[in-house]
Amino acid sequence: MIKLGDIIEVIIEKSVYGGDGLARIGKENFVVFVKDSIPNDKLKVKITSLNKKFARAEIVEIIDSKNRIKPFCALYNACGSCDCQIASYDFLIKQKSAILKDIFKNILSEDKILSIIPSPDDKFYRHKVQYPAQQTKNSKRILLGYYKKNSHDLTNIKYCPVQPEIINEITQFIRENFELNCYDEKNHKGLLKNVLLRISNATNDILLTLVLNCHENDFINYESAIFRFFKKITAQFPSIVGGFVNFNPKKSNKILGKDTLKVVGENFIIEKLGDKSYKIGATSFFQVNPKSAVNLFNIVKENIKPNSTILDAYGGVGAIGIYVSEKASKITLVEENENAISMAYDNFQINNIENYEILEGDAKKHFLNFEKEKRQFDYVILDPPRSGCNADGLKAIAKLAKNIIYVSCNPQTLRRDMSLLIEEGFKPKCVQGVDLFPYTHHIEVVGILNKN
Ligand SMILES: C[S@@+](CC[C@H](N)C(=O)[O-])C[C@H]1O[C@@H](n2cnc3c(N)ncnc32)[C@H](O)[C@@H]1O
Repeated sequence: MIKLGDIIEVIIEKSVYGGDGLARIGKENFVVFVKDSIPNDKLKVKITSLNKKFARAEIVEIIDSKNRIKPFCALYNACGSCDCQIASYDFLIKQKSAILKDIFKNILSEDKILSIIPSPDDKFYRHKVQYPAQQTKNSKRILLGYYKKNSHDLTNIKYCPVQPEIINEITQFIRENFELNCYDEKNHKGLLKNVLLRISNATNDILLTLVLNCHENDFINYESAIFRFFKKITAQFPSIVGGFVNFNPKKSNKILGKDTLKVVGENFIIEKLGDKSYKIGATSFFQVNPKSAVNLFNIVKENIKPNSTILDAYGGVGAIGIYVSEKASKITLVEENENAISMAYDNFQINNIENYEILEGDAKKHFLNFEKEKRQFDYVILDPPRSGCNADGLKAIAKLAKNIIYVSCNPQTLRRDMSLLIEEGFKPKCVQGVDLFPYTHHIEVVGILNKN
């Protein structure tokens, strides 16, 4: 039996959800998860944790590897944002498809677990960037970038190849021109916590948000310096059409506080997916990879029959409902974020959609109300956060429609929720993956379910 600290030889059999490679050892086929490994790697690894069911290990030596390549980003080992750049994009897509087959094999036959659709761009795809800010101890240089994996050590990222080039220029300008100090989480002092940038693929317009460690009432102390900063940065980068501050004075891992204030310019940028236009605010959710989002939304659209009543739950700014609107006789959107709701009203209007209703508040509450009212829809589209849907909410949803299209950024919660819907009488038709996040372990999946 292996012990903690043992160094052993393994061959990686497959990738698993989350990014590790899986190897099996001994007669019992004991499972060892190895960080930063890919299938067919022959490795010397050190056991770093162990329980009765499996061990975790780190690479000590790469003995042989058929599939490894050099990462294309110079900061790959220092930055925790991309999980895997040690194989070609094609190879990684195949691994993601295999991971989906593994996750869904107990509820769907292999032919119904469709291969991942690759991202049209595997570089420059990330149209939303959130960088924490820090300052060096002595020289007080501003650092902006991503944390190293499983840490709060910041890697100062001057060039990131998966986001549009202008983001690198803007963040460098912030490093050199922001006059106030940055947040220090050890003593909860300092002002600038995070920098958020959202860029439109259609227009290249940008919204810039500075997340501040202060209450809105205290903003008066910083207002003139912040205003000066926004004036300077928008003069240098005219494509920054809107500048905001978000107030987040809490000690918390949450990036955004609840209040946001526009300091300069516009409230929104316009993004286009297919022939639809969307207003997106500084803090409202929108898919980070617009070209891949078109592939995702096309799957949803192809699975809807014309002239249908559609519930677009967890609808955000209306992205999916509006995209499929040609198929709809009426769209009902449910969303809890106020800012997203106000954008959703505008988005239905600018896309000339008339037959819609928008219901504000918690989705589960609405599902239960619909059930009470015996309301029926032809289709329910679900696109919840990573944690998926609540079981009681799902049981109510099961009574609202015969067709469910479930868009998920977490295949594991999707499988859990699809299993519950199967218990409620639905048959799973298929799942289809779409790669919205190249070189990360994330997988977006659409699950289609129907009942008679
Ligand atoms: C993954 S996003 C999807 C948004 C939209 N469908 C899209 O594609 O842009 C999830 C959305 O659910 C909203 N949300 C999260 N929890 C919710 C809840 N309990 N009730 C209603 N909406 C919620 C979020 O504000 C967010 O807009």
